[in-house]
Amino acid sequence: MSNLKIFLDVATEGALAAGALLQDYLGKVEDTIMEKERPGDLVTVADKESEAVILDCLHRHFPEHAILAEESGNLGNYQNEYLWAIDPLDGTTNYAHQYPCFAISIGLLINGVPRLGVIYDPLRGELFQAAMGLGATLNRHPICVSQTNKLGKSLLATGFAYDRRETLNNNYAEFCHLTHLTQGVRRSGAASIDLAHVACGRVDGYWERGLSPWDIAAGVILVQEAGGKVTAYDEGPLKLYSGKIMATNSIIHKSLSQELLQVPALNTWGQN
Ligand code: IPD
Ligand code: CA
Ligand code: CA
Repeated sequence: MSNLKIFLDVATEGALAAGALLQDYLGKVEDTIMEKERPGDLVTVADKESEAVILDCLHRHFPEHAILAEESGNLGNYQNEYLWAIDPLDGTTNYAHQYPCFAISIGLLINGVPRLGVIYDPLRGELFQAAMGLGATLNRHPICVSQTNKLGKSLLATGFAYDRRETLNNNYAEFCHLTHLTQGVRRSGAASIDLAHVACGRVDGYWERGLSPWDIAAGVILVQEAGGKVTAYDEGPLKLYSGKIMATNSIIHKSLSQELLQVPALNTWGQN
């Protein structure tokens, strides 16, 4: 078996175990909800225990690999050839409110580039997997991006980062602009699910700012292996640590980029 297949099996084992834990805790975390540095940026006992389950799995199989995990930060030498980027509960706000949209996201960067990813949505029972050259699957069946060829016919997804109250660069203008131009813009509250939905063609494109590598590492390779395109807003190479991403079915990529680069300012939002 190739290394990538072994890595994929182990990441899947971790994601499934974490998913079972998140389902057990759902509706029982109210007393454990805490805010991190920013208002609205929540963490619960479920985030921490889910992360512990995944870390235990990766440490057992690959003790020499480095890890970047949302709740634990950098573990090991992050310049290691292999760096796992882990979001143990993507969609914590949804989870805390029992809004049924959250996932586990486990990506593997090889020499800094996303090469493998697993996104598991336990409530829908949807397991997304991808690895470079091995394709993208949903519940082990191949998936591909949509064929929508015009922005005007597209359904998009986006999100709003936790710093949205502190900055005019909060994506509200982009959201309004693209809501007018498309058949709609969805806001699921879980970046990994947005990317998974680009990969399987449920939405035609996604953009967001203010993200962390653990939010998107798995989704990047999933979209690429499903035939989509992932770049910066200006179509330049994606910078994983910039927080900004644009992912599409590739056909509407240029149009979405053009619109994102010329969004009229909404100059009052975010100032109060
Ligand atoms: C958040 C979600 C959300 C996105 C935020 C992320 P979390 O992750 O992915 O969709 O808009 O920027 O931080 O905090 O639920 O893991
Ligand atoms: Ca996240
Ligand atoms: Ca999280």
